[in-house]
Amino acid sequence: MPCPVAGLFYQWRSAKSRMAPQEHGSSGSLPNVGPGVSFTVNDVGYTVGAGIPPWTRLVDFLRERVKLPGTKALCREGGCGVCTVVVTVPDPETAGRTKTYSVQACQALVHSCAGWNIETIEHLGNRFTGYHPLQTALHGFYGTQCGFCSPGMIMTMYG
Ligand code: FES
Repeated sequence: MPCPVAGLFYQWRSAKSRMAPQEHGSSGSLPNVGPGVSFTVNDVGYTVGAGIPPWTRLVDFLRERVKLPGTKALCREGGCGVCTVVVTVPDPETAGRTKTYSVQACQALVHSCAGWNIETIEHLGNRFTGYHPLQTALHGFYGTQCGFCSPGMIMTMYG
């Protein structure tokens, strides 16, 4: 089954490539992106509107706007997994229930996150509130090297 997030990204990218240069930002004007998209990050609500460029990736929004640097960015191609977050969304196939899975935040545009409940490594566990068993296990079994990709590995296992 194709990944719905990657599908949205590739739709957007191919639409962007068909646009004339003046239509996507070189003139300083932003395309119309609608009234706003609402979602939560670690139980805090956010709404993004026209003030956020439509090409903004979720990973950049998390790091630069929400100031959560635990979610890393490296390849930006969906290959390395350092940007992984966990998302819970309504399941359209089973009314009233949700689905939870890991998402590579470099492959999701923030304007595509409507209704998502996004969880980052900061929410899973930390030195102030205590570590999640996955974090403790990775540490206890010497599962890290430099540690840069550890948040992504933890969030992939968690999702
Ligand atoms: S930055 Fe490598 S998968 Fe997202």
